[in-house]
Amino acid sequence: MSNKIHSLSGYLYEYQKSIANPEEFWADVAERFYWRKSWDKVLEWNFEEPKIQWFINGKLNITENIFERHLFTLANKTAIIWEANDPNEPAIHLTYKQLYEKVGQFANTLKNLNVQKGDRVIIYLPMIPEAVVAMLACARIGAIHSVVFAGFSANSLTDRINDCGAKVVITADGSYRGAKTFPLKSIVDEAVEKCKSIEKVVVFQRTHETVSMVAGRDIWWHDATAGVSTHNEAEEMDSEDMLFILYTSGSTGKPKGVVHTTGGYMVYTQYTFENVFQYKPEDIFWCTADIGWITGHSYIVYAPLLSGATVVMYEGVPTYPHNGRFWEVIDKHKVTHFYTAPTAIRALEALGTDPIQPYSLKSLKVLGSVGEPINVEAWQWYHTHIGKGRCPIVDTWWQTETGGMLISPLAGITPTKPSFATLPLCGVQPVIVDDKGNELKGNNVEGNLCIKFPFPSMLRTTYGDHERCRQTYFSTFKGLYFTGDGARRDEDGYYRILGRVDDVINVSGHRLGTAEVENAINEHPLVIESAVVGYPHDIKGQGIFAYVICDSSVTPDRYENIKNSILITVTKVIGAIAKPDKILFVSGLPKTRSGKIMRRILRKIAEGDANNLGDITTLLNPEIVEEIKQKAGL
Ligand code: WTA
Repeated sequence: MSNKIHSLSGYLYEYQKSIANPEEFWADVAERFYWRKSWDKVLEWNFEEPKIQWFINGKLNITENIFERHLFTLANKTAIIWEANDPNEPAIHLTYKQLYEKVGQFANTLKNLNVQKGDRVIIYLPMIPEAVVAMLACARIGAIHSVVFAGFSANSLTDRINDCGAKVVITADGSYRGAKTFPLKSIVDEAVEKCKSIEKVVVFQRTHETVSMVAGRDIWWHDATAGVSTHNEAEEMDSEDMLFILYTSGSTGKPKGVVHTTGGYMVYTQYTFENVFQYKPEDIFWCTADIGWITGHSYIVYAPLLSGATVVMYEGVPTYPHNGRFWEVIDKHKVTHFYTAPTAIRALEALGTDPIQPYSLKSLKVLGSVGEPINVEAWQWYHTHIGKGRCPIVDTWWQTETGGMLISPLAGITPTKPSFATLPLCGVQPVIVDDKGNELKGNNVEGNLCIKFPFPSMLRTTYGDHERCRQTYFSTFKGLYFTGDGARRDEDGYYRILGRVDDVINVSGHRLGTAEVENAINEHPLVIESAVVGYPHDIKGQGIFAYVICDSSVTPDRYENIKNSILITVTKVIGAIAKPDKILFVSGLPKTRSGKIMRRILRKIAEGDANNLGDITTLLNPEIVEEIKQKAGL
C-alpha cells in the first residue's frame, strides 16, 4: 500500500494535487484500504453547521484493515513489543495473529456482556497490551471507546462516564508507574458510584493487589474471557459511524468529548504515519505517549497497526529504575523511530549526558516531537545527543480535534529548522488570520492559526452537544476551523507554532483549561475565588500559576497548610497533572468594570514582568495590581 512521498519535489507535487482536487487525492489514498462497500461520494461539508462527511456510505471495519487485510502476509510479524515498568519483567512480543485472536476474544466477551454497536465503553487502563486489545475489540463490534488517561481522578472519570452514558468500564486492579502503584479499581469504584449508566466493570489483573469486587457488576478479565472463542466477525460500520470519543480541555467549562469517525480517521492517520515517519516494514516504532491521549490513539494504536508496523509500548516512566531507561529500551528493542514530547526531552536534558553514555542508540533513524512547541535548545540537544546528528527530527503539530498530524516535516525530506513544524501535510490548508478574521496572506506574518478546508480525520462533533463544537471551533472566524493556536509563517513559508492564544495551558504537553483548574481550586472550602494562568516553565513548557483569594477569616500563618490542601483538592477533582506549580494568596483580582478578570495582567506578573502591564486605569480596582506585584516579589 503506498501513496508514499520520496522527495521534496514529490511532496510539492502531491501537495498541489491535494489542494487542487482534494476529493480525487483522498479517494486515491482511501482505495488502498479494504472497504466492504465503496463510498458513493468522497466529501460533503460546510463549516457553518458544521457538517463534515468523508467517504459517504462507504462500509468497513477499521480492525479488518488492521488484521484481515494483513493476515496472509503479516500473521507472524510482531505487532506489539511491550516493555514493562520493571526491567526484570520479560518483554512481551505479540504477533499480528496473536493480537487478532485476543481482539476477537475480547470482542466476543464484550458482546457477552451485552455491549452492542453504538454503546459507549470507558477504558481506564495502564499502558499494557490489554488497553490496545480493549480499544480494538470495541472497534471490532462497533462500540465507541472513550479512553480516559489513568492519571485522572475519580471525579474526572465520573464526569466522562456520565457525559457519554457509558455502559461498561474496563480497568485494572492497579497500575505501576516507576516506583509507585496506583489503585485504579478503587478509583473506578468511587467514580462509578455516581454513574447510573454503568452495567459492568471488567477488571484486568496487573498488580495483584486486593480489590473489592461488586457482585453482579464487576468481573475479572480472565474470568470473562475464559473459554470464549477468538473468532469474531467484524461489525459492518458506516464510514461516518463514531469510532471513539476522547475528552479534551477547552477554554471554558468541562472537558468536551471530541468525536472521530471511522473512515476518514483511518485513511488520514495511516497516510500521515507512513509519510511523516517515512515508515518502512522493518522499522520498530516507539511513541512514548500514553494511550489516554490522542497521540497514543493515533500513533501507538491505529496508524502503525493499520500500516502493519511493529510498535513498542512502554508501561513505565523515563527515569525508572534509572535515568537511562528510555535509551536502554531503544537499544534493547532496536527502536528505529522514537516519538516523544518536548517536556520529556527537557527533563532528560536536565540530567546531563551521563545516562546516555552506556547506550549506542545506533538503531535510531527518525526522531519525533509532539504536544507543545519545542524550544531551539531542546531541539538541538535531541538532535545531537539522541539522534547523534544523523536522525531527522519531525516536529509534528496537531491536536486531539485533528486526529492526525497536520503540519510537520517529512522525515529526511523536508529541510528542518529547529522549532518550526515546517510545512502543511497533503490536504491541509492552513491560514493565518488577524483578530478580526482577515486572512494574512504571504510570508512573514503572525496571527491565529486556522484551517480553511476539511481533511479526513477532523473532528465531526463534540459528543452530545453539537452546538458546543460549532461555538468552540467554527464561530470565532467565519468559515474557518480555529485551532486555538497562534502561529508565524516565516520567509520560507514555514510554520512556527507559538502556543495557545485561548485560555488553555499546555503543561508538559497536557492540555488544561484555566477555568477547569479554577473550578477545582474553588472547591476548597476556604477559597473564595481564584484565577489561573500559564507561565514559562523550564521543563514543563508551561507551569500553572494560581492567584487565590481566601476567606477573610484566614490568617497568613495558615497559608502553607492551605496551599497543601489546595493541591490535594485539585488532585482529587482533576488529577495530579493539574496541580498548580505556584500559588499566590491575594486579597483581590484585577477586574474590568464588567467584572471580567484581566488575565493579561496576571500572566505578565506570573512571567515575572511587572513593567509592561499596559493600561490599568480602566480597571475596577487598579490598586490591587500594586498589591499583587509586591506579593509576587516584583
Ligand atoms: C500543542 C496533541 C507546538 C498546540 C497532539 C495544540 C504543539 C495542542 C505541537 C494540542 C507542536 C501540539 N508544536 N505546539 N509540534 N503539537 N501542540 O490536543 O497548542 O493534546 O493546540 O494534541 O498542543 O494538544 P492535544
